[in-house]
Amino acid sequence: MSEKQTDRKPLTGGMIIYRRLLKYAFPYWKMFLASILAMIAYASLGPAFAKLIQPLIDGSFIENDPEILRQAPFILLGLSLARGIAGFAGDYCSGWVGRRVIADLRRDLFDQFLNLPCTYYDHASSGQLLAKLLYNTEQVANSLTKGVVAVFKDGLTIVGLTLLMVYENALLSLVFMVVGPVLGISIRQVSKRFRKISMRIQESMGNVGHVAQEVIDAQRIVKVFNGKGYETQKFARENERNQRRQMKLIVTDAAAGALIQLIYISGFAAILYVVSLDSVRHTITPGSLIAFIAAMAMMLSPIKRATQVVNIMQKGIAAGDSIFELLDKAREHDGGTQVLDAVKGHIEYKSVSLAYREGGDYALNNVDLTLMPGETIALVGQSGSGKTSLIRLLPRLYEPTRGEIRLDGRDIREFTLESLRRHIAYVGQEVTLFNDTVANNIAYGSRESVSPEEIRQAAGTAHALDFIEGLPQGFETVVGQQGIVLSGGQRQRIAIARAVLKNAPILILDEATSALDAESERHVQEALEVLMKGRTTLVIAHRLSTIQNADRIYVMRDGRIIESGTHEQLLRGKSYYAELHRLQFEHKAIRPISQVHAMP
Ligand SMILES: Nc1ncnc2c1ncn2[C@@H]1O[C@H](COP(=O)(O)OP(=O)(O)OP(=O)(O)O)[C@@H](O)[C@H]1O
Ligand SMILES: [Mg+2]
Repeated sequence: MSEKQTDRKPLTGGMIIYRRLLKYAFPYWKMFLASILAMIAYASLGPAFAKLIQPLIDGSFIENDPEILRQAPFILLGLSLARGIAGFAGDYCSGWVGRRVIADLRRDLFDQFLNLPCTYYDHASSGQLLAKLLYNTEQVANSLTKGVVAVFKDGLTIVGLTLLMVYENALLSLVFMVVGPVLGISIRQVSKRFRKISMRIQESMGNVGHVAQEVIDAQRIVKVFNGKGYETQKFARENERNQRRQMKLIVTDAAAGALIQLIYISGFAAILYVVSLDSVRHTITPGSLIAFIAAMAMMLSPIKRATQVVNIMQKGIAAGDSIFELLDKAREHDGGTQVLDAVKGHIEYKSVSLAYREGGDYALNNVDLTLMPGETIALVGQSGSGKTSLIRLLPRLYEPTRGEIRLDGRDIREFTLESLRRHIAYVGQEVTLFNDTVANNIAYGSRESVSPEEIRQAAGTAHALDFIEGLPQGFETVVGQQGIVLSGGQRQRIAIARAVLKNAPILILDEATSALDAESERHVQEALEVLMKGRTTLVIAHRLSTIQNADRIYVMRDGRIIESGTHEQLLRGKSYYAELHRLQFEHKAIRPISQVHAMP
C-alpha cells in the first residue's frame, strides 16, 4: 500500500479546512442562504409550540376561558404547516447545495487526476485514489449541509427555547445553565475522537478499494496462480480493520448520545428538585412551569442532534483534509510558453541524465542522441538499460534531471505541454486500450474532429481492417477493459491505427517484447513500416527487421549509449551490439513452426 496515512495529523486546523470546504458552497450562496433562512423559520417556530401550551393551560383551566381552546387546533395546524414547509425548503435547499459541492469536489479531483505528474502515479494506488473520489467527497457534503444547517436549525432552536425558558422563569433557567459547560466539554472530547477515527476509516476504505482493484485488474493471474486464498486473506484483513474502525465510530456516537442525555437529564432533575422547594414553587404558575418543562424537553433532541452534527462535521473535516492534501499536490509542470506549430522533426538529446528519485540511481546517464527530420533510429539494449526511460522524456512525461532535449533547435521545455504532445504519436510497450468501441479507441483524443471514413482508413493502414470487420459489431465492438476481448496482435494494431490517425510528425514506438505468431507479426510489421514512413521515429526495437531498416542504431547499456551506427557498421568487429544480436536473434534462424507447415 503506497499511501499509508495512519495517524497522519491533519495538515491544518479543523476550522481552516472547514472554511475551505465552505468555499465550495459559496458559489451556491443563494440556495445556501435560502436553506439557512428556511431553517431559521423552522427553528423559530419550535418554541412557538411550547409557548402555545402556557396560555392553553393557564387560559382554559385556570382562567376558565374556552376561547383559547377553540383557537388552539387551528393555531396548531397553522404552525405545523408553516414549520413543515420551512423544514422541507431547508432540507431541499441544503441537499441541493450538498450534491453540488460533491459534484464540484469530484470535478476538481478528476481534474487533478488528469494533471498529476507521472512521478506521482509511480507511487500511488488507484484504489486509494478512487476511494477519495467516491467516499471522501460524500463525507464532505454531509458535513457541509448537515453541519451548517444544523448549526442554524438546532442552534437556533436551542437559543429560542433557552430564551423562552428565561422568559418563563429566570431562576430555574439559571439552575439549568450549569449543565451547559459540562455538555460543551463532553461534546468537544467526543468530536476530537471522532475526527481521529474518521481519518482511519477513510484510510482503510482506501485500502479496501486498493485490494479489490488489484484483484479485479489481475483476475487472470489470481486464478492461474491460485492466489484466491491469499487475496481472500488480504481482503478479509482490510475488511475487518475497516469494520472495527466503523464500530469504534458507532460506539463513540452511541456512548456520546447516552452521555449527553445523562448530563441533560441531570439538569432536568436539578430543576425538578428546585421546583419541589416550597419557596420556589410559589413563584411560578402551573402553565409557566409546564411551558418551561416542555421547552426543556424539546431541547433534548436538538442538543443530541447537535453532538451528532459536530461528529458529522469532524468526519467532513477529516475527509476534506485528505481531499485537499491531494488537490494541493503539485501538478505536472508545464512552464512552456511557446505554442509549437509546425515541426520539422530535428531532435537532439544533449547530455541528458535522469534519476527517477532525487538522489537515486541514474536510469539515464549523459545521453547524447540526434535525429534528423524523417530519420528512424532504433534503440537496442538489454532489459533495464534505460530505453523506455529515454523516450519518455520526449513528450515530457518525466523531466530530465540534467541536460536538455531540443526539438528543431529549441529546448522542448519552451513549448506548452499540450502543443508539444500534439506532434507526438506514441505506441507503448504495453498497449493501452479503453473500454470503449474500436472506433473510439482508434480515434482516442480526437473523436469529434474525425470521420468514420478516416478511422477506417487508419485501420486499413494499420492492417487491422480485416479483423475489425470480422468482429461482431465491427468498429462499434466494445473491446472490454484493456481490450481484453482482442488478441495481443490485434491490440497492437489498434494502437498503431491510433498513431496513424494522429498523423503526428514525431513517432515514438516501444515495441512489445512479447513475440507474436508469424502471421500477426507480419501484419504488425507491415503496419509499422507504413506508420514510420516520412516521420521522425524513435523506436525501441525488438524485431530484427525494424533494426535493419533503421537509419542508425543506438546501443544502450546501464543508462548510457555505448555504441551507435548502422546495423552493418555495428556488426563488424567485436561490438557489444554484435554480442546482443547473436544472443537475441540467432536462435530465430530456426523457422517458426507455422512457416514450416506453410512450406510446400
Ligand atoms: N517509473 C519509474 N520509477 C523508478 N524507476 C524506474 C521507473 N521506470 C523505470 N525505472 C528504472 O529505470 C531503469 C531503466 O528502465 P527502463 O524501463 O528505461 O528500461 P528498458 O531499457 O526500457 O527495459 P525493457 O527492455 O525491459 O523495457 C530500470 O532500472 C528501472 O528499474
Ligand atoms: Mg522498456
